[in-house]
Amino acid sequence: MAKTKTLFFCRNCGHESPKWLGKCPGCGEWNTFAEETVVTGKSGKTTPLGLVQRMEVPTPVQEIESSNEKRLDTGMAELNRVLGGGLVPGSLVLIGGEPGIGKSTLMLQVSLNLEGKKILYVSGEESRQQIRMRADRIGIRNENCLIYTEVSTSAITQQVLAVQPDFVVVDSIQTLQSEQIEATAGSITQIRESAAELNRLAKSSQIPVVLIGHITKDGVIAGPKILEHMVDTVIQFEGDRHYGFRILRAIKNRFGPASELGIFEMLHNGLREVTNPSELLLSQRENPVSGASIAAMIEGLRPMMVETQALVGQAAYGTPQRSVTGYDLRRLNMLLAVLEKRSGLRMGSKDVFLNIAGGLRVDDPAIDLAVVAALVSSANDIPLPEKTAFAAEVGLSGEVRAVNRVDARISEAARLGFEEIYISRFNQRGPSKHENIRVVTVGDVNELIGKLFG
Ligand code: TYD
Ligand code: MG
Repeated sequence: MAKTKTLFFCRNCGHESPKWLGKCPGCGEWNTFAEETVVTGKSGKTTPLGLVQRMEVPTPVQEIESSNEKRLDTGMAELNRVLGGGLVPGSLVLIGGEPGIGKSTLMLQVSLNLEGKKILYVSGEESRQQIRMRADRIGIRNENCLIYTEVSTSAITQQVLAVQPDFVVVDSIQTLQSEQIEATAGSITQIRESAAELNRLAKSSQIPVVLIGHITKDGVIAGPKILEHMVDTVIQFEGDRHYGFRILRAIKNRFGPASELGIFEMLHNGLREVTNPSELLLSQRENPVSGASIAAMIEGLRPMMVETQALVGQAAYGTPQRSVTGYDLRRLNMLLAVLEKRSGLRMGSKDVFLNIAGGLRVDDPAIDLAVVAALVSSANDIPLPEKTAFAAEVGLSGEVRAVNRVDARISEAARLGFEEIYISRFNQRGPSKHENIRVVTVGDVNELIGKLFG
């Protein structure tokens, strides 16, 4: 006999509790518990129709077949890179991102471009007509891209087994409805059950399944956080919707490096791969302006040059404004405090705006030195020397700290025609010689300011 009962689940991590809790014991977040009705008694472990459970026996590791060579090329180098070299057979991949960022576009484009492969594109979000219109926009090259609008997990499972596609796309996990449990689509229990069923399907059929999942800015509401534990690979699609750039970032990857990054540009006819990001992230202008500086960054494994723009002005009202795009506000406040305390710059009464060009969100601490240079340049209203780049972290006592892979940063700057790069005096450098770029080392922010504005 099936019984229904009420349980509470944390929307952030999926922690289960018989009663409502203010603070989640699982992840420590506040106010994340939501009530859900679940059915017990029915077995949640039924094998989906047509699946044969294979019996495993313990095997010496060297005798296990390595599946590395069998990865499926998605036809998109940037996506392959983030996946660690293509889709692994039987893997469950989650692509998360805010609504409207381009998740459906990306996966439909991959499906439409992969000539000679059979793809099952399942959508519970859009009608067939809507998908056709989008497909016309992107261009149809693969005649074996099957569109299937369905939300029932068992119906999808049956179709996957009948069609035997090279891979499956499910758009989105929040629309799925499993008959095994009686929770509404999009609820935590439903998302978990549906994902578990698709994971069993992927593993037993060896067909890769790509799940699309909506996620809000803080990552709470829609549930993909809970999924991160269940899937093999989590990829986040991000970017500012008002800019064309989209960044694909591996957050977790059982089959590759977890820091890889792919860059795309959203055009009217789909996404374009950006293979040389530096040239796009540098804004073109004729005359040097104050407050602009270039950082030599590493995102994933790739060096790229990114422009930072700062605007420092006298605050019009009592409380000065501080605003950032693409950079951490607390980190900006920290750097302003360092400049105030160690360099005697009066920043306390100033409005400060800081922008990373192209809508990129930057985590690499090596951008600090470029931020400091941009701030001082704007405060003094003196442009920085042209063709100059920066790559170092700045610490609380104003010290300029070493960053990783400094030689790769210097090479990228040299390759793009920069004539000078500022790095930390404490950076250990490899034996490689950089002949057409001058490397300037500094020990603290005052030394930097002295050398730049002397
Ligand atoms: P979409 O893939 O629907 O986003 P998601 O699935 O993540 O919610 O992308 C939606 C946005 O992309 C929408 O604002 C329209 C835009 N877009 C283009 O600019 N060019 C295109 O070729 C396509 C298909 C969409
Ligand atoms: Mg979509």
